[in-house]
Amino acid sequence: MTADQQQRVIVKVPASTANLGPGFDSLGMALSLFAWIEMGAAERTEIVLHGEGMDGIPTDKTNLVYKVAQQVFDEAGVSIPELSISMYSEIPLTRGLGSSASAIVGALAAANRLAGDALSRERLFEIATRLEGHPDNVGASLYGGIIVAAWDGERAAAIRLEPHPELEVLVAIPEFHLSTDKARHALPAGYSKADAVYNVGRSSLLVAALASGQLEMIRYAMQDRLHQPYRAALIPGMERILAEATEHGALGAALSGAGPTMLALVDRRSSRKQELEQFLLDSLRQHNPAEARWLTPCLEGPVVTSLDASQAGTTFMEWIKGEITA
Ligand code: HSE
Repeated sequence: MTADQQQRVIVKVPASTANLGPGFDSLGMALSLFAWIEMGAAERTEIVLHGEGMDGIPTDKTNLVYKVAQQVFDEAGVSIPELSISMYSEIPLTRGLGSSASAIVGALAAANRLAGDALSRERLFEIATRLEGHPDNVGASLYGGIIVAAWDGERAAAIRLEPHPELEVLVAIPEFHLSTDKARHALPAGYSKADAVYNVGRSSLLVAALASGQLEMIRYAMQDRLHQPYRAALIPGMERILAEATEHGALGAALSGAGPTMLALVDRRSSRKQELEQFLLDSLRQHNPAEARWLTPCLEGPVVTSLDASQAGTTFMEWIKGEITA
C-alpha cells in the first residue's frame, strides 16, 4: 500500500479532563479547548511548534507526534518516513487538561488519514491507551463527550455518554506545572476495602447521574478516596475547593486529571457562576497565581480535514487562526 505523497491534513483535537473525582483512570470528558496538528509527507522531516509554552518539545524525529504517526504507518503498512508537522495548542501543558493525550490522539488521527484510514477508531484507542498508560484522557479526546473506560494492559474498552445539554465546566488553572508522574507517585501502593467500596459506589453513581441527567446527584457522587486526598498536598487550595465549591453554586468539584487544574461542573442556568469563579480563584490565589476558564463538554473527537491542491497556499496558522480562543 502506498500513501498519497501530496496529501496534507489538519486535525483539531479537544482537551480533556480525567477522573471526574471518583473515576480514577476510568472516567473522562472532552473539553472545548483544542490543539491542532498539520501533517503531510515531506522530503525531509520538519516540525514547527507555534505559540507559547512549547519549550523543550523536540522538533526532530524524537517528537511524540512524529513517533506516534510512524507507529500508525507501520501498522497500516505504508511508508512515510519524512513528515512535515506543524502544531499549535491552546491546552496548557502539564496542568491536568490532557495536553499529551490530545497530541497522541491528534497524531493518530492525522497519520491514519494519511494512511487511508486503515485503522479503526477502536484500534486507535488501544494504541493511544497503551502509549498514555491509562484510557481516560485519550478516550475523551478520541470519542468526545463523556467516556467511561477500562484498561487491563491488553484490552481497552470504552462507552461514550452524551453530556447533559446544560452542563458547563469551570476550570481554575494554577500557574505551576505538575507532571502526571509526580502526581501518580503521591499515591499509595494499596487501599482499604472501605475506600475501594466508597469509590465503586461514588463512581457508579456518578456515571448513572451523568447518563440519566440527574445533575443534583453529582454533588454526592463526585467524591473520591483513591487519589485526591493524596494529591492535595501538591495543590494548595484544593481541599477548600473540594469541601466548599457546592456551597458556591457548583454541581460538584474535582481535581482535573492529575492536577493542578481544579474543575467544577456547573448548571449553565445557574445564577451563581460569578460567585463560584471568584471562590475557586480566591482559594487557589491564596497560594499561587491562577486563571479561570469557562468551557463546555466537547461533543466530538478529532476533526480531520484533508486539504486539496487549491488550499496549498494557505498556511497552517492562517487555516486555524479563526478558531483559536486561548
Ligand atoms: N487518570 C490519570 C491520573 C490522569 O489521575 O493520574 C492523568 O492525566
